[in-house]
Amino acid sequence: MVEVVHTSVLRQEVLDLLAPDSAGTLFIDTTLGEGGHTASILESFPDARVIGLDADHDILEVARARLSEFGSRVTTVHAWFNQFFSEYPIDAERPARVLFDLGVSSFHYEKSGRGFSFRSDELLDMRLDEGLEISAYHVVNEYPEPELASLIYEFGEERYSRRIARAIVESRAQAPIRRSVDLANVISSSVPPEYRRARIHPATRTFQALRIAVNGELARLSQGLESALRILVPGGRIGVIAFHSLEDRIVKRFFREKNRECTCPPEWPACRCGGKRIIEIVTKRPVRPTQREIATNPASRSARLRVAEKVNEEQL
Ligand SMILES: C[S@@+](CC[C@H](N)C(=O)[O-])C[C@H]1O[C@@H](n2cnc3c(N)ncnc32)[C@H](O)[C@@H]1O
Repeated sequence: MVEVVHTSVLRQEVLDLLAPDSAGTLFIDTTLGEGGHTASILESFPDARVIGLDADHDILEVARARLSEFGSRVTTVHAWFNQFFSEYPIDAERPARVLFDLGVSSFHYEKSGRGFSFRSDELLDMRLDEGLEISAYHVVNEYPEPELASLIYEFGEERYSRRIARAIVESRAQAPIRRSVDLANVISSSVPPEYRRARIHPATRTFQALRIAVNGELARLSQGLESALRILVPGGRIGVIAFHSLEDRIVKRFFREKNRECTCPPEWPACRCGGKRIIEIVTKRPVRPTQREIATNPASRSARLRVAEKVNEEQL
């Protein structure tokens, strides 16, 4: 029996909105994790086949073991999704469904041992793929203070970013900050007392910022959406689950942009681009977890699912 720690979010909603139709039965699960969504897809739709990707070797091993009962209906690939799509062979079958379930999994907080959680005493690393050159240790101990502050502000939306960056720089001047709990303590002691007593731990946003920076998450998302849409078959659907406003904003803008009929500058009196909408937006508002789901899986509370259908091929 494979031990699984992550609970898939919006499981039923994903199945309802991404059920296969005449567009085809090939799914790409771009963020396979421990394989929860993929297992549900393969169980629910007997004709479905899935290519599942993950940047993380260790979690891919869990998914492989969990999904082995589905045999050749599932293929697992170790890859960053943006790279995978940009190298997608021109003559390969095009997917009818693409799912992005962004960020990291409970596996990363509970079992990876790579310092994703401020509650565990682990070496600061946070790389999803060990092939990346820069780890959280490097960012925390080497980046100049202004860069550190702006990264914490931009990727963590942390209002005390400057104070936290200052405290990190002062602390590392004494000795390098090696472990996740040490960093969490430095952050806690740098913020005002009322912030320490707030609903979320004062290190939450800084840890999110470091993870996003180390793994280049936002740039990969923008590139991944563009190239996934290009290879999606017309009539196919793309679904994205975001967990914070930075990700969701990228998805929302991307969908809005591809839903525009005309891309001519507004001052032009008539349309010259002859443009066509590339997608129709299926979820006019993002789909949120029910109170029931949030009660059983609190980690789902910030999830937002947006789905779009490709209606035209993009002219390049
Ligand atoms: C939220 S988890 C997915 C959980 C999965 N849907 C399930 O139900 O079990 C996100 C996964 O995506 C992976 N990941 C994040 N960014 C990625 C990227 N750019 N390319 C490939 N995998 C990525 C992470 O390693 C993590 O395992």
